[in-house]
Amino acid sequence: MKNAHEQDPVLDRFHFLVNAPALFNAVTTAAELRLFSFLSEKPGARSEEIRAFSGLPAHQLRVLLQAVCATGLLERRDGGYHNSAVAEELLAPDGPDSWRHILTGWKEVYYPAFPHMTHALRTGTNTALEAHPGDEPTLYQRLAHNPPLEKIFHRAMTAFTLRSVDALVEQPVFRDVRHVLDVGGGDGSTSARLVARHAQLRSTVLDMPSVSRLADGARPDGQADGLPDRVELLTGDIFTDPFPDGPDAVLFSHVLEIFDEDSILHLLGKAYASLPPGGRVLLYGYNVADDETEGVYGARLGLYFNVLASGRGMAYPARDYERWLERAGFDNVRTIGGLPYEHGLSLGVKS
Ligand SMILES: C[S@@+](CC[C@H](N)C(=O)[O-])C[C@H]1O[C@@H](n2cnc3c(N)ncnc32)[C@H](O)[C@@H]1O
Repeated sequence: MKNAHEQDPVLDRFHFLVNAPALFNAVTTAAELRLFSFLSEKPGARSEEIRAFSGLPAHQLRVLLQAVCATGLLERRDGGYHNSAVAEELLAPDGPDSWRHILTGWKEVYYPAFPHMTHALRTGTNTALEAHPGDEPTLYQRLAHNPPLEKIFHRAMTAFTLRSVDALVEQPVFRDVRHVLDVGGGDGSTSARLVARHAQLRSTVLDMPSVSRLADGARPDGQADGLPDRVELLTGDIFTDPFPDGPDAVLFSHVLEIFDEDSILHLLGKAYASLPPGGRVLLYGYNVADDETEGVYGARLGLYFNVLASGRGMAYPARDYERWLERAGFDNVRTIGGLPYEHGLSLGVKS
């Protein structure tokens, strides 16, 4: 007789989940070995050909291919290997938006932190940060002491941003914006997409000096050869340095969720003070469901913040952001929810 649980989809998920750390690393290894790119060019390649390409010993390649086939990302037909449609779209491409960069970033930065989870959550401290040199309170600041890892981290973040930014860029609200301040704008990838889509728009990206330098070919005058002319880089600390006057919109993209309520209210207060009447604030990022029961991307992010990155923060539900926007003085507060990758855009206007 069948166990009643065998019909339960949670059981399937459980079986996958408990094996997921090993499978995650197998997929990441396959991506780092460029197996998905190879199979994109040579669909149906046999293991001997994959072996010649990868240089792996035959037995170890057999183990790796079995693991990746078990995820469904590779398929074996008539003795040859093929990318699944998902692997072909996400993992085979080599460009800056390839999921390969995201997997490497998660492997090198996020996942080494999670064995600290029980201790970190119990003590309310991001104890995994101790593995990173420096004495600053957040991962973002400490990564400046480790340029190779900082580069991996931002390459992953940029790839994820490029995968999720279209839903932001296409918002009609940008048609009425002249100059946006992109707070914590990283290497400027989001702003570059925004100005490319909206001809009237220019952007000022505010981030830490070590991050701004990552914008390809940054010049001493603050302009970056790798960024469009209408994107300028401004270096500073988003908490302690003033926001510049002039922009008629302030964007926080994947930034507020790093922090706690007091810090978020402080940043929203700075945005409100710097904006002219009619100016807009835009909060883009992950939202867990309002009842806080759904959101796997949001779950991973909240755990990463609390175990490693900042010791606080989470992918707050949209209603939290709306409450904070109103407390900061903004009117016409609303959220456009249900965007890809569990994203939402909360907006407010300074009357
Ligand atoms: C999660 S990333 C988001 C990057 C970009 N906005 C995006 O959507 O891809 C957070 C950014 O905030 C920046 N940041 C965090 N704390 C900061 C601080 N105190 N001053 C300046 N930038 C900071 C980090 O360097 C990082 O680039």
